[in-house]
Amino acid sequence: MIQTGMIASALLAIVMVVNAAIDKTKLPPAAKKTGVTFDKDIKPLFEASCVKCHGSEKQKAKLRLDTLPAVMRGGESGKAIEVGKSADSRIIHASSGLDADTAMPPEGKAKPLSPEEIGLIRAWIDQGAK
Ligand code: HEC
Repeated sequence: MIQTGMIASALLAIVMVVNAAIDKTKLPPAAKKTGVTFDKDIKPLFEASCVKCHGSEKQKAKLRLDTLPAVMRGGESGKAIEVGKSADSRIIHASSGLDADTAMPPEGKAKPLSPEEIGLIRAWIDQGAK
């Protein structure tokens, strides 16, 4: 019993450390724009900053960001977006660069997304990622 309790607290501590990596209050806010869609609004942003490593030629971390179904499938760490919850979405955490270890795109390798662009991606995820 005692051991189970210790393992549980150790796991909780690990989860807390992982979550602490990103201060969600520092994420750029979601854009106010409505009717945001992947094809119209989001695909061009990923094409400019992400698709050379996450597209048809290369699939780093087994992640593709060039089509909506591919984005939905996610990568080797699991889901890339949590539909309806942009602040909990891996893509938003990575793009924000708040955690240097997981910042995307890797420094100097592609054009970083601006806070406005990240806000638009947040709005898209929060609106259901259509
Ligand atoms: C120059 C290549 C390159 C570019 C450009 C790039 N990435 Fe990555 N990405 C990687 C590599 C390599 C990894 C594997 C993790 C690592 O080594 O840091 C990765 C991993 C990821 C992951 C984790 C996937 C998983 O399931 O583990 C996400 C999310 C991600 N990238 C999102 C993006 C987004 C969003 C963009 C554009 C804003 C982007 N990446 C641009 C190379 C790139």
